[in-house]
Amino acid sequence: MKTSLALLSMALSCTAAAAGPDVQQLLVQYRCSICHAEQETLAGPSYADITKAYRGQKQAVALLAARIRIGAHDGGLWHMPPHPEVSKAAADALARYILTVGACSSAMTSSSETCGKSR
Ligand code: HEC
Repeated sequence: MKTSLALLSMALSCTAAAAGPDVQQLLVQYRCSICHAEQETLAGPSYADITKAYRGQKQAVALLAARIRIGAHDGGLWHMPPHPEVSKAAADALARYILTVGACSSAMTSSSETCGKSR
């Protein structure tokens, strides 16, 4: 994926929402949306809640990307199934997207106009 270098350099800024189209396709392809939504808790936590939980952690993208691939179960009713078929680059992009959307949709940033999504 030729965008992975660019994605890496985008840090956690809301402008990372520019990675949109690819990620939207990944979310459908891997059916993340069955269990996750931006704001709403489904079987899995909302992206906003995930972002809140990882707020301030420098390694958040790496941690989430790893957990997307190996799965997670922190004692809730449901668990996050492992997705070993998701490439590292794709998992990074998904993690970055989740943190971006989460930050934007929970208005943790004052620059919501740069979120790329109007809400
Ligand atoms: C079958 C339902 C289901 C599917 C499909 C699913 N998830 Fe999850 N996900 C969960 C649940 C439940 C949790 C909470 C797990 C826990 O920590 O107990 C979770 C947690 C997460 C977390 C937070 C992990 C953490 O460390 O807190 C991320 C990020 C995530 N999912 C991303 C994804 C992505 C990306 C996909 C698609 C590749 C996906 N999920 C598909 C149910 C799902």
